[in-house]
Amino acid sequence: MNRSLALATRPAPLTELTMPVPAEIHPESLLALPPGEAKQSLLTVHSILEARLPAGRLAIYEAGGGSTSYLPLGVLRRSHVTVVDIDADQIRNNSYAQEAILGDIQTYRFPPGQRFDLIICYNVIEHIPDVEAVLRGFCEALKPNGLLLIGAPNPKSLSGIVTKYSPHWFHVWFYRHVRGEKHAGLPGEAPFPTHFHPLVTLGNLEAFAAGHGLQVIYRKKYESPRYPEMRRRKPLLAALIDAGAKAINTLLPGKIDVRHGDYHVILRKLGS
Ligand SMILES: C[S@@+](CC[C@H](N)C(=O)[O-])C[C@H]1O[C@@H](n2cnc3c(N)ncnc32)[C@H](O)[C@@H]1O
Repeated sequence: MNRSLALATRPAPLTELTMPVPAEIHPESLLALPPGEAKQSLLTVHSILEARLPAGRLAIYEAGGGSTSYLPLGVLRRSHVTVVDIDADQIRNNSYAQEAILGDIQTYRFPPGQRFDLIICYNVIEHIPDVEAVLRGFCEALKPNGLLLIGAPNPKSLSGIVTKYSPHWFHVWFYRHVRGEKHAGLPGEAPFPTHFHPLVTLGNLEAFAAGHGLQVIYRKKYESPRYPEMRRRKPLLAALIDAGAKAINTLLPGKIDVRHGDYHVILRKLGS
């Protein structure tokens, strides 16, 4: 085994198959989202996953996993989740994966016999220097017809541009003072440093998919949940940013909304 990788296999929960999942692992990700486009898109993602994933037990690979699952409970309950994360604190924070691997998703590869029905990589690719290596790893690790769900910031949005070109200390400041997250920037806590590799741009990601046997079955750019969050917490600042965004939108050609700060994409590996 690579020296930098420590493998920690958690015993499968005793009652994994027979007991209802306790209420505390309801996807906080969904409950915590303010009403708006982000929540709506995540609900659509859930319905696609529920409809398209095969019946029975599922093998899921979560690349870069924190404490919160973005998966619908109906899927999570019948899954064996393997999480790979480079940060030991994040591995410790993760309570829903059955198997946790401390490793780098750019280089970590599963043995040939281990393939997945679903790979989820949520709020992670923007932090990765070599996204192509990550995506190649995903192509290898997916079963034919397997699904890949990516959630990421849109680098061509207002928040994407600000995040990409501002220093990390500003991200920490924003999380602490605008989002009100007191522990932001502490070990194992967001925000994490960003790289914004060119493949984070949705158009480039789709071109990569087309060239690597992946079919786009869902794509949605949506208003970042930071906007409704800010409207509630900091109405004056939000009004100022909303006005600025509206002005930029009117100046830009086409129907671009610079508030579309995030996207979801679901890809299917072609083949049988
Ligand atoms: C913003 S957090 C997202 C965590 C989780 N997916 C979520 O949305 O709550 C980014 C995660 O990516 C992990 N990460 C960053 N670079 C990584 C790499 N090269 N390999 C594995 N994990 C990585 C970080 O440790 C962190 O847990």
